[in-house]
Amino acid sequence: MSDKKAHLTVDGIDGAIDMPVLSGTTGPDVVDVSSLTGKGLFTYDPGFVSTAACESKITYIDGAKGVLLHGGYPIEQLAEKSDYLETCYLLMNGELPNAQQKAEYLQTIMSHTMVHESLVNFFKGFRYDAHPMAMMCGVVGALASFYHDSLDINNPEHRNISALRLIAKMPTLAAMCYKHSKGQPFMYPDNRLGYAENFLHMMFGNPCEQSEIDPIVAKAMDVIFLLHADHEQNASTSTVRLAGSSGANPFACISAGIAALWGPAHGGANEAVVSMLEEIGDESRIEQFIKRAKDKADPFRLMGFGHRVYKNFDPRARVMQKICDQVLGAMGAENDPLFRIAKRLEQIALEDSYFIDKKLYPNVDFYSGIIMKAIGIPTDMFTVIFATGRTAGWIAHWNEMISSPYKIGRPRQLYRGYTARDFVSLDQR
Ligand code: SDX
Repeated sequence: MSDKKAHLTVDGIDGAIDMPVLSGTTGPDVVDVSSLTGKGLFTYDPGFVSTAACESKITYIDGAKGVLLHGGYPIEQLAEKSDYLETCYLLMNGELPNAQQKAEYLQTIMSHTMVHESLVNFFKGFRYDAHPMAMMCGVVGALASFYHDSLDINNPEHRNISALRLIAKMPTLAAMCYKHSKGQPFMYPDNRLGYAENFLHMMFGNPCEQSEIDPIVAKAMDVIFLLHADHEQNASTSTVRLAGSSGANPFACISAGIAALWGPAHGGANEAVVSMLEEIGDESRIEQFIKRAKDKADPFRLMGFGHRVYKNFDPRARVMQKICDQVLGAMGAENDPLFRIAKRLEQIALEDSYFIDKKLYPNVDFYSGIIMKAIGIPTDMFTVIFATGRTAGWIAHWNEMISSPYKIGRPRQLYRGYTARDFVSLDQR
């Protein structure tokens, strides 16, 4: 505990208000402002730009340097040397598993991949053209209705089995959304396959033929899940924590996170990037879109660019670009027009003073959509893939919060409405 203090003087309040300054293992110090309420003051920070809402050991981001660490391990090393389920174990437990722990974890996850058969009926209620994220919000929240025996959030075993079930079942539910939209039969998991391979089997397999999954594509899918696994206190993770702070069950909290992720400013950006690249259509039209992105009067923003925290390259975008090259090469699509436009767009934007001055760099969503489109995943499934990967981070943060003393999240406000006034009867209005 540091003995550093912040001293605040406020006109109209006698004396200075001393507040503790807390230091983490790395990163900015924080000022503990909890005593301000007792002085009749709130802090004001719309969008939580300068607010640390919690303490955590799971993930660290240095936005200025483009650094992302999970349990201290750089994302570049995890993407190259680890895999998604090993990273899930790391996020939940804070350490990489040894060989026995990893084997047991994989075995446990792969033995929970099936969903209750009644969930098939949930999908029958959706229109054929329902957006997969709408379906995921519904069916993930509904999972709670099947596990009444293990929803005691204060029981570590219930928290652990819920985390395992969510990580194991998200790919199955994601694939069911896709199959529903295609009018094709749902594919049962094949637990002899790897996690990402099994997902591709359930997505693109059919009961009439043996699934043939390209190992390069399966590896790319696993790295995509890994790169999306966690990202500190982003909007959807903060949503999961806030929902969890009321004592809501983990399935409801993850459903809330899925809803928050859906927005185009957040996880919906990967879908928006591909739509934007398709709208640009040709490299000759890039300049006019750059101009629009810089025009304050135009709501258009360069999707896949910019980030609340990264004021340098998003390290995940660099890895994603390499995977793009590999997958497109493997698919014989090196000259994919969208990829060409994306690379040219990145080059132009990074040379433009607007983007340089505002420190706008490609983020994780800029290339991911191109890879997923090359794999054959439809655009409206991109954020479902993001949600599937991010489930590990969401549930790790939820578990971290619930495992220690916590308070219900209840922000205050700067009120600018009417002060008290008497009711006016209808005949007087
Ligand atoms: C994700 O938080 C996370 O960690 C999220 C995420 C995760 O893993 O969970 O990393 C995943 O959500 C990545 C971001 C995906 N979203 C997009 O690609 C959508 C496009 N990007 C923008 O909407 C924006 O950059 C945000 C939402 C990502 C960040 O917005 P901020 O932090 O609120 O920044 P801002 O809007 O205040 O922008 C600062 C300035 C503004 O100009 P000024 O008002 O200062 O003149 O930069 C401009 C913005 O207009 N700007 C852009 C821009 N992004 C910011 N201008 C053009 N194009 C853009 N993409």
